[in-house]
Amino acid sequence: MKALVLSGGKGTRLRPITHTSAKQLVPVANKPILFYGLESLALAGIREVGIIVGETKNEIQAAVGNGEKWNLNITYIEQEAPLGLAHAVKIAQPFMGDDDFVMYLGDNLLKDGLTDLVAEFQKNRPNAQILLSRVPNPQQFGVAELNGNTVVRLEEKPVSPRSDLALVGVYLFDKNIFKAVNAIKPSARGELEITDAIQYLIDKGYTVHPHIVSGWWKDTGKLEDMLEANRLILETKLPENAGTVDSASRIEGKVVLERNAQVINSSIRGPAIIGENTRIVNSYVGPFTSIYYGCHIENCEIEHSIILENSSIKDIKRLEDSLIGQNVKISKTDKKPAAYRMMLGDSSAVEIA
Ligand code: DAU
Repeated sequence: MKALVLSGGKGTRLRPITHTSAKQLVPVANKPILFYGLESLALAGIREVGIIVGETKNEIQAAVGNGEKWNLNITYIEQEAPLGLAHAVKIAQPFMGDDDFVMYLGDNLLKDGLTDLVAEFQKNRPNAQILLSRVPNPQQFGVAELNGNTVVRLEEKPVSPRSDLALVGVYLFDKNIFKAVNAIKPSARGELEITDAIQYLIDKGYTVHPHIVSGWWKDTGKLEDMLEANRLILETKLPENAGTVDSASRIEGKVVLERNAQVINSSIRGPAIIGENTRIVNSYVGPFTSIYYGCHIENCEIEHSIILENSSIKDIKRLEDSLIGQNVKISKTDKKPAAYRMMLGDSSAVEIA
């Protein structure tokens, strides 16, 4: 069994963060989303992994390397444009050969690993196994219609969904999926859809097994989903202190201080994680906050937020529900005229109280 991890695409819903970096590398609880997927593939005993890369190829390659960190053997497969999930499968055919494979969308996070799913696929030997999860907003996903335990129909982002069962971004296939991806035509949005490819298998009488996931699942395409994924992962962390806390500071609940993190005259209330070489000075960091490496936070209150590497936030009364990019500087000034002065990237969003 091999794996195909999709890390191409554009990430339009996470702009401006994704103007400059790959959405699959945005950290959740101080670890790039993509790494969670690679870890679960390794745990499920998979060794050979093809990663689909597009525009952000260099960045993904720099972060993942040859995969030895996870004991994986990684091959990069370049996709000339994000022409669809089924297009990604199509170009991966030479890498897969006749092998079965797990397809994993690089921006998906799944609580329960893949070990049981791989075992279930190998035991029952369907041609495809799809994962489903009940969601309140099925219009935003691929949606499955079941009759008992049989998949009857799949539709990509339907206006009137026939069920609340969304397709999770993890699929298991045997080699017959290549017949399907080579037979289907692009959808109305111009992409070769994996939902259409699986529908092709159903229509041609191949077996497609559904598996409803019991643990949580998150597609981290949007800000609210990132913050929720961050909450879910932080809750599973055990407290750890590889940094320093001065005697004027208080640490409450599940707080992870990574190597050389410094907490000075501050209060950190978990679940929260403070990254390597990050300094928190005269501040309060509240629950569900992840501050990545090399940051400087001073005279601030921050809660329920993700701050990326090397950013500095000073003298800000309170920041909540925020995703702050790399190397961002936010500060207060006494300079006259008193005004907000900003340099924001395209598609930034700012709310001022
Ligand atoms: O997250 C689950 C959903 O993922 C499913 O419910 C949908 O049926 C499925 O089509 C997919 O929908 P999205 O609109 O969320 O897909 P997105 O364009 O975000 O792409 C998913 C991942 O695949 C993302 O990491 C980018 C990568 N990708 C995407 C395309 C279209 C590629 O590598 N190449 C591509 O051509």
